[in-house]
Amino acid sequence: MPGRPIAIAALLTLLVIAAGGALAGGGPSAGELRALLEAHGVEALPALSPPALPPPDPALYVLGEALFFDPILSGNRDIACATCHHPLLATGDGLSLGLGTGTSGLGSARFHVPGRPFIARHAPELFNRGQRAWRVMFWDGRVMQGADGRFNTPAGEALPGGLSSVLAAQAMFPVTSPAEMRGFPGDADINGAENTLALLDDPALDPDYTAIWAALTDRLLAIPAYVDLFRAAFPAVPPEQIGFQHAAEAIAAYEAAAFAFTDSPFDRFLAGDDAALSDEARRGAWLFYGAAGCARCHAGPLLTDQAFHNVAAPQLGPGQEEEGPLDYGRGRRTHNPAERFAFRTPPLRNVALTAPYLHNGAYTTLEGAVRHMIAPVEGLRSYDPGQLTPELAANVWDDPLTLEAILSTLDPLAGSPAPLTDEDVAALLIFLEALTDPSAADLSALIPPAVPSGLPVGGR
Ligand code: HEC
Ligand code: HEC
Repeated sequence: MPGRPIAIAALLTLLVIAAGGALAGGGPSAGELRALLEAHGVEALPALSPPALPPPDPALYVLGEALFFDPILSGNRDIACATCHHPLLATGDGLSLGLGTGTSGLGSARFHVPGRPFIARHAPELFNRGQRAWRVMFWDGRVMQGADGRFNTPAGEALPGGLSSVLAAQAMFPVTSPAEMRGFPGDADINGAENTLALLDDPALDPDYTAIWAALTDRLLAIPAYVDLFRAAFPAVPPEQIGFQHAAEAIAAYEAAAFAFTDSPFDRFLAGDDAALSDEARRGAWLFYGAAGCARCHAGPLLTDQAFHNVAAPQLGPGQEEEGPLDYGRGRRTHNPAERFAFRTPPLRNVALTAPYLHNGAYTTLEGAVRHMIAPVEGLRSYDPGQLTPELAANVWDDPLTLEAILSTLDPLAGSPAPLTDEDVAALLIFLEALTDPSAADLSALIPPAVPSGLPVGGR
């Protein structure tokens, strides 16, 4: 890439200026900020056309929308994707840790039912996941797409072919999770019938992915309206060759189109509109890409390097099976102790709308999250569980041994390299607010009036 050395030299010069505090108080000019962003390789996100996913054809979108909101995909027929990724809650559930099948209600009106587990991690927002640059899904990256296009997922060889994006590969998995959608042995569905999906375990496969996907496909194709929707979306595929991968493709096409929000002031600035960012937002960006060091991880057009870092997030909640009550994050997948407590850097577009924050929702305010990111060690040591619901506050693991374990694998890149003032924090927050696409603030129009199964629309 011929422009690279010049860009890096420019970057270094600017970083020296920023670190030297030459701009303390005032913000950089639009031109200065533009040069810094260019040096960092930050570009406006493309609208929903190549190199993002091509806009889906309407039939694929309509099928995906139905599936996203239809509790028919749950073993107990009581929870849809939308329940945890709801338009009224900025494509999340508004909770630190969510509650899956066996509970009812939406967001803060979703109450814990004794005997049903909290989901171990926070339900992330789903904005702009259709961008082609995405390669890594989930906080621990358990669904990934390699440079060769191949998928690495918990299903191994059982993953069917025909998945065209990492987002589609991801959509194969929520239905297989007992706590999220599938349910547990002994559960009855909302009609009082035995939950047979919950029984499809195979000690070798853990769970029996192929059987679960086949059973769900049969369930969908027993509903005439779905037969019509699949036929319209996949006219070249005979009904007997429809598999759950087709459902996942449609869900991904829907998510990619419905949750694409790339018209933030920051994106408008990147596209050339000097006036799109206020002085204060430019100053925040200058810190973000300079002295505060945020862009070391929140890098590139998606504001994430899609890599894993331990930034000393507090540990809370039920944790992960054999590690419980802890959650080793990426280390759980790689079995590498050095990667314990590392989680994928989240993207930050629309972040002002998507509280709570971090992989377990430890922070309920954006300022809390930002202050933690500036000084992670202090953030961990002085973490206030009082911001959580009492039930979760009683499940914060802040004993000295756990804190020591977390800090022992802290990412050397974590924390701000320069001391920041309260004004700097305020500027960073104003910059983060400038990542909000105004039209993402009200997504209520996305909620369909009904779903093909006739069940209540997910999230009601
Ligand atoms: C019970 C709540 C719940 C339900 C239901 C649910 N999800 Fe999620 N979703 C989560 C949680 C929690 C995570 C993060 C889990 C992790 O990273 O380990 C997640 C992660 C994701 C991600 C990854 C985003 C990223 O950037 O890593 C996508 C995409 C997603 N869900 C889509 C879906 C779809 C599609 C469905 C329905 C088929 C669905 N979810 C059902 C809670 C839920
Ligand atoms: C070492 C890499 C790294 C650096 C540097 C970094 N972050 Fe992060 N950031 C992460 C990771 C990883 C997470 C998620 C951690 C977790 O959940 O355990 C995160 C989470 C966040 C969140 C919460 C987002 C959400 O959706 O939950 C915000 C906001 C944030 N960072 C802002 C910043 C700001 C502002 C800076 C600079 C002061 C910064 N980060 C510096 C890696 C980094």
